[in-house]
Amino acid sequence: MSAMEINLVDKDRYAHSGVPHDQLRWLRDNAPVYRHEGQGDWPGFWAVTKHADVVHVSRHSDLFSSARKLALFDEMPEEQREFQRLMMLNQDPPDHTRRRSLVNRGFTPRQIGRLEEHIRDICHALVDEVQGKPEVDFVRDIAAPLPLYVICELLGAPVEDRDKIFEWSNRMIGSDDPDYSASPEEGQAAAFEVYSYAHALAAARRQDPRDDIVTKLLQPDEDGQTLTEDEFDLFVLLLIVAGNETTRNAASGGMLTLFEHPDQWKRLVDDPSLARTAADEIVRWVSPVNLFRRTATADTEIRGQKIAEGDKVVVFYASANRDEEIFERPDEFDIGRDPNPQIGFGGGGAHFCLGNHLAKLELRVLFEVLAQRLPGIRQAGEATRLRSNFINGIKTLPVTLG
Ligand code: HEM
Repeated sequence: MSAMEINLVDKDRYAHSGVPHDQLRWLRDNAPVYRHEGQGDWPGFWAVTKHADVVHVSRHSDLFSSARKLALFDEMPEEQREFQRLMMLNQDPPDHTRRRSLVNRGFTPRQIGRLEEHIRDICHALVDEVQGKPEVDFVRDIAAPLPLYVICELLGAPVEDRDKIFEWSNRMIGSDDPDYSASPEEGQAAAFEVYSYAHALAAARRQDPRDDIVTKLLQPDEDGQTLTEDEFDLFVLLLIVAGNETTRNAASGGMLTLFEHPDQWKRLVDDPSLARTAADEIVRWVSPVNLFRRTATADTEIRGQKIAEGDKVVVFYASANRDEEIFERPDEFDIGRDPNPQIGFGGGGAHFCLGNHLAKLELRVLFEVLAQRLPGIRQAGEATRLRSNFINGIKTLPVTLG
């Protein structure tokens, strides 16, 4: 391997064989802060591949901005960019701080823990649906509906609305895979439908408050601060975008990895309580979000490498999660790994994944239920992967249930 062979943005490579771990390993060893040439719709950028450096960038939003230019989407038409800017993910402190602290109230471990039994019921219902069928698609039938139904539960959306929310979310999915996602215009139209849906939902909860997360988010906090109506609507949109595809790919990527490591699947079937540590190991191994991009706000340095103001800096979570300096046996998938300082939910700092407790709970309960109820599940054909360098995704995963 040499620097000549490095190409971390080639979407065909991701579609064919997933994350280019050979290249990322070479970079960690030889050029941990690497100047990557631009390609296609990507301008040149600094590729940051070591765990400590990803953490450093993530925790210094004053130096590495999510708002200045945009985290990922500079190449979009201006109108769409304006819309993206309204979302928390694309803002810096202090704008970001107020909104984030208001929504944090709904996502504490205690609030999320209350959803466990609902999540278990959803997982059992999904297994009931597939049981007895000769072959099913794990993505379509299990991994995709789970996070969507959980978000509907979280929002208190009635069951009859699930299908339409599912359809909107599929149209908005942020990948650029032509087989998979709708056109940007269709995605935008779906986003507006979600926006008005959220508006109506908020109005209903204001009139008829319940003991749920939406009601909590609409009430003032102890300092009397509230989310404005627009902020609430945008937040629902962000939840649907950020909470769906990520968890879907963690679940399907986790299942595929367990097929590839039958000894680990057997361990889980023999002791389903291992699903707790398995959830973190799946996030480490799969890294459903491959990367995020920031923009340097001033001349600075990472690991002695000079970075100029305005440069793009891309943190590779998938690489940090295999960093030999942090993980013992980084290339071994071990569902009992503990401690597991994986940073698949971000390297800490302002934007650390709001849904991390929820995602881990969904993965734990799902794999517990699968190990108990479908111990004979087997891969029945090739999995197909998403053509994206941002989301490490599985499009289809045919399985038989044994
Ligand atoms: C942010 C990963 C599930 C909501 C993020 C970030 C990552 C991430 C890498 C950006 C961190 C940063 O820039 O420092 C994941 C993964 C998931 C997952 C791998 C599943 C395995 C969820 C779920 C929800 C969610 C289930 C909500 C229900 C969010 C939100 C943000 C975010 C709202 C933006 C936070 C902010 O800007 O302050 N996630 N996520 N995520 N995630 Fe997740």
